[in-house]
Amino acid sequence: MGTPTGGRIRTAIAGVGNCASSLVQAISYCTAKGPDAVGVSFPELGGLRPEDIEIVAGFDVDGRKVGKPVGEAVLAAPNCTEVFWDRLSDQTAQVRRGPDLDGVSAFMRNQPPEISFVPSDAPALTRDEIVETLTAAETEVMIIFLPVGSQQAVEFYADCALAAGCSVVNGIPVFLASNPAWAKRFKEAGLPILGDDFKAQFGATVVHRTLAHLADMRGVKIDRTYQLNVGGNTDFMNMMDMDRLATKRESKTEAVQTAMDTRLAEGNIRIGPSDYVPWLQDRKVAYVRLEGQLLGGAKTSVEMRLEVEDSPNAAAMAITAIRCARIARQRGLAGPIEDASAFLFKHPPVQYDDPEAHDRLLAFAGHGPA
Ligand SMILES: NC(=O)c1ccc[n+]([C@@H]2O[C@H](COP(=O)([O-])OP(=O)(O)OC[C@H]3O[C@@H](n4cnc5c(N)ncnc54)[C@H](O)[C@@H]3O)[C@@H](O)[C@H]2O)c1
Repeated sequence: MGTPTGGRIRTAIAGVGNCASSLVQAISYCTAKGPDAVGVSFPELGGLRPEDIEIVAGFDVDGRKVGKPVGEAVLAAPNCTEVFWDRLSDQTAQVRRGPDLDGVSAFMRNQPPEISFVPSDAPALTRDEIVETLTAAETEVMIIFLPVGSQQAVEFYADCALAAGCSVVNGIPVFLASNPAWAKRFKEAGLPILGDDFKAQFGATVVHRTLAHLADMRGVKIDRTYQLNVGGNTDFMNMMDMDRLATKRESKTEAVQTAMDTRLAEGNIRIGPSDYVPWLQDRKVAYVRLEGQLLGGAKTSVEMRLEVEDSPNAAAMAITAIRCARIARQRGLAGPIEDASAFLFKHPPVQYDDPEAHDRLLAFAGHGPA
């Protein structure tokens, strides 16, 4: 498609789970509330508001979501995130059945259906049919919200997006924007890509980074740290399968390592999803501990417990990233969008500390000097 300069940002979602639910709710919520919407990171960015996003297609594998309008599908089990906006009759784009690939692991297939994925009996669309669907819907951006460990499925949807001329926002820790081979493909296609793996609005990563930065700034020698995360949604259940976790751990650990003046030895840093507690549902609890030394080696330690509703925390970044994808196109940019990705993602192509990343994002969007 040609470079869009106006109109709503026509967006397709791959993986209509809890994060997608919060994203869809956020668009309808912001449309209804306008400037009174609560907790929006950038109410206006480069002249764009969250309500300028329009969901035009969804792809999933779950029989409880496939064939439904996206506004209905996002409220279907096993989605369990808080419903902060239930007036979703304006969200009429259909959810279509994509191929399972490695999106649904053997581990998830063996869990009770009410808390896991249940692949639909309907035949999956082929690659060409997905490209056709994206093209027919005049899709500008594809956002990826697939389960952790879906290497093939993420690459499949990224490939479809390239073929259909869509920008990509990659919310998950399968590396695209930060993978030079994929970055090159998007650059050559003249399409922006933002990623990888959302750094949630007020999540464990950004709080942990801030704490580490504070210690460094005050001259504290950091000796060791951990960040243990528990939650009760399908994301956490899926991450009980340790074989799928490698890139999630890498993404989360690197996000903290790069925030410190001196990298810690591998044995002194442990960060990742730690357990699945079903009754927490979409609530996530993070325990962060940092141990270090003050003047003369005097010991110090800090323990922090953060509790958040997991999916709105990612959707807050999604409604920013999708607008950044439009801004990048308006500016004729292609390939990884470094200046916007550092603030929004845990594993961007280039890491900056958070205040600098914030300034770069604003400058990229035309809100002041770089
Ligand atoms: N919540 C956060 O703050 C946060 C932050 C960063 C990254 N993420 C990542 O975002 C992703 C989405 O998280 P979530 O909580 O929405 O997960 P989820 O389990 O609720 O949703 C995943 C969805 O993908 C679908 N799916 C599985 N295989 C598929 C395939 N082959 N094709 C299409 N759809 C398929 C599932 O049916 C489900 O609807 C996860 O990888 C998560 O780690 C979340």
